[in-house]
Amino acid sequence: MTINQNDTDFNQKENDMNQKGINLNQNGIDINEHVPKREPQRQRYFMSRCKELVQAKERELGRKLTFHDQTFGCQMNFKDSEKLNGILEEIGYVPIDSEDADFVYYNTCTVRENANIRVYGRLGTLKTYKKKNPQMIIAMCGCMMQEEEEVQKVKDVYQFVDIVFGTHNIFKLAELLYECLTSRARIFDVWEKTDLIIEDLPSDRKLRFKAGVNIMFGCNNFCSYCIVPYVRGRERSRKPEDIVAEVERLAREGVVEVMLLGQNVNSYGKNLEHPVSFAQLLQMVEKVEGIERIRFMTSHPKDLSDELIEVMAASKKICRHLHLPVQSGSTHLLKLMNRHYTKEQYLELVQKLREAMPDLSLTTDIIVGFPGETEEDFQETLDIVRKAEYDSAFTFLYSKRSGTPAAKMEGQVPDAVAYERFGRLLKVVGETARERNARLLGKTELVLAEEIDEKDASMITGRLSNNNVVHFKADTSVIGKIVPVVLEEAKGFYYIGRLSDG
Ligand code: SAH
Ligand code: SF4
Ligand code: F3S
Repeated sequence: MTINQNDTDFNQKENDMNQKGINLNQNGIDINEHVPKREPQRQRYFMSRCKELVQAKERELGRKLTFHDQTFGCQMNFKDSEKLNGILEEIGYVPIDSEDADFVYYNTCTVRENANIRVYGRLGTLKTYKKKNPQMIIAMCGCMMQEEEEVQKVKDVYQFVDIVFGTHNIFKLAELLYECLTSRARIFDVWEKTDLIIEDLPSDRKLRFKAGVNIMFGCNNFCSYCIVPYVRGRERSRKPEDIVAEVERLAREGVVEVMLLGQNVNSYGKNLEHPVSFAQLLQMVEKVEGIERIRFMTSHPKDLSDELIEVMAASKKICRHLHLPVQSGSTHLLKLMNRHYTKEQYLELVQKLREAMPDLSLTTDIIVGFPGETEEDFQETLDIVRKAEYDSAFTFLYSKRSGTPAAKMEGQVPDAVAYERFGRLLKVVGETARERNARLLGKTELVLAEEIDEKDASMITGRLSNNNVVHFKADTSVIGKIVPVVLEEAKGFYYIGRLSDG
């Protein structure tokens, strides 16, 4: 059940925190009395307290205080970082590109082992910066910090890390920072779970015309290889009226494209007090004036409804792209993965989607080397890639995550075998992507111009409704606009195009 924080009293743990964290001000008045108990008022209070401290520090140093974030992982984490950055900016910190900042946080991912290794690899460099600037505050948060052994490691080995929090309490950043700034003690605050969804806190956005919007948090699926349900908790949906209000606000601020975010958007709304389906939510968002494109991520094949296909097909705003992770083409492995569909059911679904939307672009996630994967299983995966005709695929080598059921399964595949299969898979994915890509050659498509091309500053990079990328010559005035572009060259995973005169 979703509990609105406004109706909830604080639990004992938080009361304890207040007792030890906040005490007397310069006049000897117990400021605990003035700390609001409800959210988001409480965090607003701490933001303004932190702001006073930051301003005092600025006067002392004769310069602005700065912050920097390193964000790893999926769109959920990037969205969380926007919220954290919104809070930091409200407090008065200025974002900079370098890690040589007054406040640095790492928002971590733990979905695969190499994600963890990358984080620890980088963390060492922060120590050097902190030596130079002992006032520097270093924070760690995100999915890795939901794992006890990782928190312990940070406690013991990375003693220069000042603040550690998890995925469930990112809204508390201002409070934790205030505690750290006033006590200079190390702060560890990781919650095992939560029912809370805190609305109306600041959020920063990288792009002015495109925004991600959380529609739900957590995951209930427990795919046998996946750590996400353990580190993100149970599924919680935001109320549709809160989502629509946020999208309306974004539209007023000039946003034309929204990406609705959830680990399994197809099960949105099932546990709300007044249940609403994802398809119904899409229809509500579609009504928001000013929003021209709607995307969403991620869809679990087992929950994709006919209602959703109908709504998508009838919509002018919902983009012609579906990310539909298949993970494997082997029904036997899909069962071991706890995915709840067979190869045939998945392909039937693809067929239904293609009939309803012939111009739909389909992308996927695939894991190679899941425990017990035989050459025959792998051939089934190659077969499904050819049959589903993906526009592109994210391919992953299976990574053992302790705590998940798959970690204990028999038949772990040797690295060399998995690597070899991975290479073959990439080739087939590349072939189907190139074939799909060639279909739009010569056509004129509407493109949201997003940024200056990284490789050639005279070009702009934009996206088609189907999420394909195109680079075309134009000046920066088109950025943020939807413009017609002729697709002149198909390059496999992207196009080169030209602005259409017509
Ligand atoms: N909720 C999304 C995906 C979240 S994780 C979904 O269900 O599709 C993103 C991708 O990481 C997954 O789709 C999967 O392909 C991959 N992944 C997750 N756990 C993994 C593991 N232990 N090893 C390798 N890849 C993994
Ligand atoms: Fe992980 Fe499966 Fe949930 Fe996706 S649906 S986050 S793969 S458990
Ligand atoms: Fe990683 Fe957490 Fe996303 S584990 S993939 S950042 S939900």
